Order: sequence, then C-alpha cells, then structure tokens
Amino acid sequence: MEDILGQAPGLLLAWYEKNARVLPWREDPRPYRVWVSEIMLQQTRVEAVKPYFQRFMEALPTVEALAEAPEEQVLKLWEGLGYYSRARNLHRAAKLVAERYGGEVPGTVKELLALPGVGSYTAGAVASIAFGAQAPAVDGNVLRVVSRLLCREEDILSPAVKKKTEQEIAAILPQGRAGDFNQAMMELGALICLPGGNPACKSCPLEGICRARALGVEGSLPVKAQKKPRRVEEWTVFLLVCGGRAALRQRDEKGLLAGLWELPGVQGRLTEEEARGVLLEWGAKPCPLERLESARHVFTHLEWRMTGWAGEVDAPCPGFFWACGADLRRDITLPSAFKAYRAELFRLLGEEP
Ligand code: ADE
Repeated sequence: MEDILGQAPGLLLAWYEKNARVLPWREDPRPYRVWVSEIMLQQTRVEAVKPYFQRFMEALPTVEALAEAPEEQVLKLWEGLGYYSRARNLHRAAKLVAERYGGEVPGTVKELLALPGVGSYTAGAVASIAFGAQAPAVDGNVLRVVSRLLCREEDILSPAVKKKTEQEIAAILPQGRAGDFNQAMMELGALICLPGGNPACKSCPLEGICRARALGVEGSLPVKAQKKPRRVEEWTVFLLVCGGRAALRQRDEKGLLAGLWELPGVQGRLTEEEARGVLLEWGAKPCPLERLESARHVFTHLEWRMTGWAGEVDAPCPGFFWACGADLRRDITLPSAFKAYRAELFRLLGEEP
C-alpha cells in the first residue's frame, strides 16, 4: 500500500494553519492550562468546555491553587460537566505535582502517565502540545480519521487497534510540530471527518489520499464492535422542601457518583401513594405531592429513568441535609444527572437558581 499516512502531515498542517479554532488553551498553552483543558475535553465537546475552562482558570490559576483548594470547590467548578471522577483525579494529581515536582507539570509521557486520570491520549496531548514532545495523542477522533484514511475495518474500540494507530502516528509525527499535528488531527475529526454517514469530505484536506473516500465507504467507517446495551434503572426522586430549605443526601463513598450530593430517592417508579409511604419511612409526615416531569440521565454503562415527586413537609426530618438556596448556588454540587430537577428545586424554594 502506498504511504498514505506519510502524506498526511504536510496536507494537514497547511489546513490547520488556516482553520484552527481559536481556543483559550491554544492561545496560552502553558502546561497547567493544557492539562486541565485535556481532562475537561475527555468526554465533553469543545463548546461546552470553554466557559468551564475560563471559570476554572480564574478560580484556580495554578497547580498550587488547585492542590490547595477544598474538594468541594473543585467539584462545584465542575458542576454540570459530568464524569466527576475526572475532577477528583485532577485534584489528586495536582497535589502530587505540587509535592513531587514543586508545582511544575512534568513534561514526559512517562511522568504524565503516572498521574491519576491521565491515560495515553492525555499524556501524549499534554507532552506534545505544552512541551513539544514527539508523542502521539490518539483519541476517538484520530482513530476515526485513520480508519477512514486507510480504509481499515478493524474495531476501533479494540486496544490492539489503538496501540497500532499510536505506533503509526508516532512514525509520521513532523519534527518539532507534533503538538500542532495532534491538534490538527483532532480538529479534522471534530470539524470535517465527522462520525456517521455525513463527513464533510469536500472540505477535507486529505480527501485526495483517503482510501475510504476513494472506495465510497467513508460513511460506514469506522467499525465499532457492538457494546453491551446499557442497564436501565427506574428511580423515584423526591424534591422535598421545608421552610426554604431542600432535602439532600450524600451518596456512598464508593461506586456511581461516589460521595456526591443527590436528591433523596428510591429505586422503582412509585405512585403517589407509594411515594407517601416512603415519606413515612423517612420520618416525614406525608404531605400532598406534585408529580414532576420524568427525566432521564445516561451514564457510560447505565441509564436512569426518573420519576419526580415534589412536596412541602411540615418538619425537616433527620437523615437529610436541608440546603438553602445559597448552599445550592455556592457550595453544593448537584450532579448533572439531576439537572432536570434543579430549576424545579429553586422554583419550590421560591428563589432564582
Ligand atoms: N479534543 C481534545 N483535545 C482537543 C484539543 N486540544 N483541541 C481540540 N479538540 C480537542
């Protein structure tokens, strides 16, 4: 096979110079900023990340500031981004960087890989973008681009394919421009070589060398092995208020949304009568309940389908934390899974979110 990948860097870098989006972590690519941005971008789109990134940098502008921040503050800055273990790992990693490296983010793939929350993609991205290291950064976007360029029909979710792609990219990284090349690949994946049946091949700088395009099969690549269907759980959540405060509780220290706040709830889809029964078990006098819109939240391996009941109880039963509006605005992180009920909660408290 002719050297398709070998032709990519020249074409791609020329395109990237004209088409790179202006992004805050690109304009000022100091290592801490690049690192934080890459963690935020792990499962979240660029547009959604931008305001979070700016706010995070204003609140915690250095590794030391992050290392010294209370966890509550770090989670609050992450509220709404989801995948909160990213924030916890970043926080732990900042403490390690403060301790081991005097607050200077390390610049080699090996050292970066040793930090919590940093895998081969993130280590390669930070090392190449912030330090100019000759390291590949292969994420889902890059796997899709390469599988189309080479018309490769292997499952891109397989670790062996990722490893092979990393080696192939490592072999073609342009000297001194690995960071730009890696970002150009991500940019192409995000803007042009879109997933599904509608990639914008006519605008693609690699159209002329793309095997999938030549064969007309770009829409059916990449191949991804069928994943197990997500488990579905039904939940009934309660928005209970009492004297301008709302009932919250903390989740278990282990497992899903570990240690984070939640709306009190029970498994299953409860009728009003059953829901009133639960209030009794919690030590609250049953009150009239208002049925709220159902909501859904999709985690990686699990889906919650939620039914909501709202009510005003006559006394704050023990076992919950009764949060006022200011607590919810300033200090408490209510995970994105409950986003659908957040505005409702403020409505019941009679306050602005
Ligand atoms: N996705 C992940 N990292 C990125 C980056 N540095 N630029 C654009 N998209 C990205």
